[in-house]
Amino acid sequence: MKITIIGAGNMGSAIARGLAQGNLIKAKDITVSNPSNGKLETLKTAFPDIVTTNDNEKAVENADIVILAVKPWLVAKVVPSLKLKCSQIFVSLAAGITTEQLTEYVNPRIPIARMIPNTAIAELSSMTLISTRDMTKEQEQLLLNIFNEMGMTLIIDESKMAAATALTSCGIAYVLKYVQAAMQAGIEMGITQKESMTMVAQSLEGAAKILLNNNTHPSIEIDKVTTPGGLTIKGINELEHNGFTSAIIKAIKASL
Ligand SMILES: NC(=O)c1ccc[n+]([C@@H]2O[C@H](COP(=O)([O-])OP(=O)(O)OC[C@H]3O[C@@H](n4cnc5c(N)ncnc54)[C@H](OP(=O)(O)O)[C@@H]3O)[C@@H](O)[C@H]2O)c1
Repeated sequence: MKITIIGAGNMGSAIARGLAQGNLIKAKDITVSNPSNGKLETLKTAFPDIVTTNDNEKAVENADIVILAVKPWLVAKVVPSLKLKCSQIFVSLAAGITTEQLTEYVNPRIPIARMIPNTAIAELSSMTLISTRDMTKEQEQLLLNIFNEMGMTLIIDESKMAAATALTSCGIAYVLKYVQAAMQAGIEMGITQKESMTMVAQSLEGAAKILLNNNTHPSIEIDKVTTPGGLTIKGINELEHNGFTSAIIKAIKASL
């Protein structure tokens, strides 16, 4: 299985690193193409077996899967020049470019996937969304297997892609905003910035694990820590008096 990544920016490089650290694809079977050399050299230093090039067309020649990681406004220019074949799987990361639009630039019989990871892919903890077009169950499973090595991957209907992106790709920034706000409170109460960050981030990871490992619901878990007359319910009610739930709903819907 050979994978080519077009674009060595934040996403392209994070995926190349993730793939090279996983068990499914060998580093020597990963090719990354980018017009400038700096990011390619950084990748090569970390993973010498990864193949790097400035030639997109040559890079995709023998690939089984081609991952497009350029900015959305470059899609129309870059994709036709790749001359993709029907035997290849085409995966586009370009936000907002639909599979329908992508078929304008490639042979319409090519299996296409739209993929939206979030920045936690660099830590192999991405929430990755995939929607596919003209793809067999085996090809979908292959993508799931590959990207589950870099976090959690869900195949969703393309009609839900924008909403799901608001929850995950934009959503990671809102979660970080909560961490930043909690840190400010910690600092005001005399805890150092670094300690505040560690305390809040670890609490966040714990909360995520409670939910994901036990398939439970936030209400059940909040109920466990809100003793009647206790401190936590005072804080929860204060959040609500200040419109916390409404602010989150509005923020996520604003990202549609
Ligand atoms: N960042 C996110 O959280 C996120 C999440 C989901 C999806 N996405 C999508 O992922 C894609 C990449 O985003 P990014 O944040 O990784 O952008 P980025 O850091 O700007 O990376 C884009 C890369 O594409 C390279 N490039 C430019 N022209 C090229 C060409 N003709 N052929 C090959 N490579 C070329 C650029 O190289 P030079 O720098 O040398 O010009 C750059 O290294 C975007 O479409 C974005 O919508 C991003």
